[in-house]
Amino acid sequence: VQSAVRILVTGAAGQIGYALVPMIAKGAMLGPDQPVILHMLDIKPAAEALKGVKMELIDAAFPLLKGMPLNLQDCLTMGRFLTSYGCIIAGVVATTDVAEACKDVNIAVMVGGFPRTEGMERKDVMSKNVSIYKAQASALEQHAAPNCKVLVVANPANSNALILKEFAPSIPEKNITCLTRLDHNRALGQISERLNVHVGDVKNVIIWGNHSSTQYPDVNHATVMTSAGEKPVSELVHDDQWQLHLLNSEFVATVQQRGAAIIKARKLSSALSAASSACDHIRDWVLGTPQGSWVSMGVYSDGSYGIQPGIIYSFPVTCQKGEWSIVQGLKIDEFSREKMDATAKELIEEKSLAYSCLKG
Ligand code: NAI
Repeated sequence: VQSAVRILVTGAAGQIGYALVPMIAKGAMLGPDQPVILHMLDIKPAAEALKGVKMELIDAAFPLLKGMPLNLQDCLTMGRFLTSYGCIIAGVVATTDVAEACKDVNIAVMVGGFPRTEGMERKDVMSKNVSIYKAQASALEQHAAPNCKVLVVANPANSNALILKEFAPSIPEKNITCLTRLDHNRALGQISERLNVHVGDVKNVIIWGNHSSTQYPDVNHATVMTSAGEKPVSELVHDDQWQLHLLNSEFVATVQQRGAAIIKARKLSSALSAASSACDHIRDWVLGTPQGSWVSMGVYSDGSYGIQPGIIYSFPVTCQKGEWSIVQGLKIDEFSREKMDATAKELIEEKSLAYSCLKG
């Protein structure tokens, strides 16, 4: 029997959390055969709601959501019924205690954070999140399983991940990432809609930079599988100068502003697509990207493509054996260079804002 993987979801009583935990329990993150134990963390005011989510997870009777066999003493301590086969610990931990939530987790999906409310200054939001991520980094540092993989979803995602890296020095920097897969998937979705092709036939878009409106969705290397073989997206719209122009303007703006468009339509921010993309991010990281395709992940820059080292920046990556590597050698045109540098500049500014919040 495969032993269960412990997955932490912070902010689990929130909207993304509510969409994400059943996906994990159904195998969307680690595959249909991998048992999981869900560790759900939220803050005290959300404790009742969190309890409700736990009740629903039990009611849904997910077969993958199962704990490890316990020894007799542990069964007695936890007041579990004993059968002639021993007993099993629960597949769900729901808590407001960050140390308990982080205990022995193999994967941490950090969704909890302080939202920007009307009239709030950027610096105030940053300051609240910096202190949350500093505290949670220390808890992961002390209690998580060795080699724990971390995905930060909560905004400002890149800078929260950077703070987490700073305060969890024993977690390798390669293990700390942030979510730009939603933007990546949005770009695939837009190409599929516009060219009227199946989304599964589109690949190799890139999101460069920050998970913010300065991100650069780059379609220059994207391809579509057609009946005549794999074709670059630019070739498919080649005959039409107007469409080519759209690729560099309207397409980029649509992907950059998709989050705002969802809020306008739903009166709530994206939740199911964010949750699904978080599963995609971890699944590809752990199980590997398919041959010939890459995905976008916010990772610690090593200076590739002239991006300043020391910021968390979204790059095209391939994954193998649980490790990502940045795709090298892609040709970057002048238009792209400008956009990639602009989003890097914003991240460098965000980094100094975050560090100034740490000081006081
Ligand atoms: P939400 O407000 O519905 O849920 C957030 C949850 O976090 C709440 O239950 C809240 O009580 C909890 N929380 C707050 N402080 C916490 C702490 N210190 N520890 C644990 N839990 C805490 O928000 P939603 O819609 O679920 O979004 C969550 C975050 O994800 C937001 O920051 C949002 O901006 C971000 N986001 C990021 C995306 C990405 O692609 N990177 C996409 C969509 C949203």
